Amino acid sequence: MGDYTNMSGYYDLIMTSGYYDYPKIVNALLESPNFRSVLEMGCGTGLILEELAQRKKDIAITGFDLTEAMLVIAKQRLSVFPEVRLVQQNVTELDLHQQYDVAFSYGGVWYFVMDGVNEPFLVSHIYDHEANLNGWERAAKHIASGGQLLLGVQGPHSNYASPIRNGYVYSQTITPLPHGFHKEYFLDDGHKRLMEQRIDYRTYPFDEACELLANYGLIHQPSASANPQFVRFVKS
Ligand SMILES: C[S@@+](CC[C@H](N)C(=O)[O-])C[C@H]1O[C@@H](n2cnc3c(N)ncnc32)[C@H](O)[C@@H]1O
Repeated sequence: MGDYTNMSGYYDLIMTSGYYDYPKIVNALLESPNFRSVLEMGCGTGLILEELAQRKKDIAITGFDLTEAMLVIAKQRLSVFPEVRLVQQNVTELDLHQQYDVAFSYGGVWYFVMDGVNEPFLVSHIYDHEANLNGWERAAKHIASGGQLLLGVQGPHSNYASPIRNGYVYSQTITPLPHGFHKEYFLDDGHKRLMEQRIDYRTYPFDEACELLANYGLIHQPSASANPQFVRFVKS
């Protein structure tokens, strides 16, 4: 379920070669009004939290992640911000003894894919449905009443190969599964395979995702923007 150990050593190289635009993600997070505490679900190597901690000094920041090897890098990256709390946990058993004004996931445990043609849909790093329900229940318990859940929006996944830095080539392949898709990630240096990782993702149609989240008091808030960075839910 969403283990990134294989990719961890190359994650920063791949992501900072244009895969995600971290300043833009944090710009969107900072649009949330008056939040004093924030939780990143699936914080990985801490690239978003570093940008956030640099730009917003007066908030309590926590990140958790399933993959220890990703958190080792996050802890190193964020060591200059000792007030940022980093915890190894699986969202399905999340227990941080705290509630947050904002909980978000950008490419983390959950996110939305909007390709502008088909209906947007929710993507989960957790393929098992019951485990997703547990995860939503646990996540909702960590959001204060009136607080927000923000799930990042990405473009469609596709098969491609692209040169990144150092002459390395990143590639990915997607194959459909009955309830989602299987994604393979590769990094190659010429004929030498440096990294391979495989994950089964669960998908949910937009309306079903909103209904499921509403069962945990997380109510969808339509966006005024045609291209939002996050889909927003407010905890009732
Ligand atoms: C694509 S990375 C995103 C990392 C970070 N948000 C970023 O933007 O760079 C996805 C992360 O989600 C974590 N993850 C996947 N399933 C998880 C789960 N069930 N509980 C906690 N973290 C999970 C993975 O370990 C991985 O670090």
